[in-house]
Amino acid sequence: MSIKSPGLFIAFEGGDGAGKSTQASRLSDALESRGLTVLRTREPGGTPIGEKLRSLVLDHGHGTIDPRTEALMFAAARAAHASQVIRPALAEGTVVITDRYIDSSVAYQGAGRGLGAEGVLSLNEWATEGLHPDLTVLLDVDPSDGRRRRTAGDATEDRLESEPDDFHSAIRHAFLDLAAAAPSSYLVLPADADIETLASRILERVESLLVANGAPLTPESLQSETVPGDRP
Ligand code: TYD
Repeated sequence: MSIKSPGLFIAFEGGDGAGKSTQASRLSDALESRGLTVLRTREPGGTPIGEKLRSLVLDHGHGTIDPRTEALMFAAARAAHASQVIRPALAEGTVVITDRYIDSSVAYQGAGRGLGAEGVLSLNEWATEGLHPDLTVLLDVDPSDGRRRRTAGDATEDRLESEPDDFHSAIRHAFLDLAAAAPSSYLVLPADADIETLASRILERVESLLVANGAPLTPESLQSETVPGDRP
């Protein structure tokens, strides 16, 4: 049965290798199993033009990209994503879960590339017409742990991932500063906690937001279900 509910916008943020995709997919499965309509999406990407910009901005093959050009490319992809995908989905009552959003630009281009938080934020305010997540889940990862996790197996690093640890350290602190400035809109969790613990803490927070927004989830229905995703 599908539950009609007000839309909710959730962003997952964190350094590379934080495990955002795993947790975004756990949350999405859990909410779908409760009858909610969920859209999982990612940045850069989420639209045809956004996916093209993604491959341009992440590939090593295009030589050096000037930091402002890089910030504008992420913002251009985000403008399309916000207007063509996220806003329409929210208007239909969908729960939108995005892997990265504005905070990634503030952290990577603002802090990592040294453009400053203020300019990058105002560029993105303009690009998204002020569309902000209801909740940002920040998975805080130590840069060296992140590198170990993302290069496990034979995975290769994209243009931004391959930057040195001090770049990733600046990013980590920028994410934490954003969360500290608006604590009620963030859930900050240590990325090295176990997957099940993270999944249930995230679900608990999202469910309380949904109930506060008027979604017809009763405390009984929430407690009677196990946390989905406990697959072998
Ligand atoms: P991501 O999709 O998390 O990488 P992967 O799919 O390989 O796990 O993000 C791609 C990279 O783009 C990542 O290094 C962070 C970077 N990025 C920015 O620098 N600015 C941004 O605004 C966004 C959305 C991503």
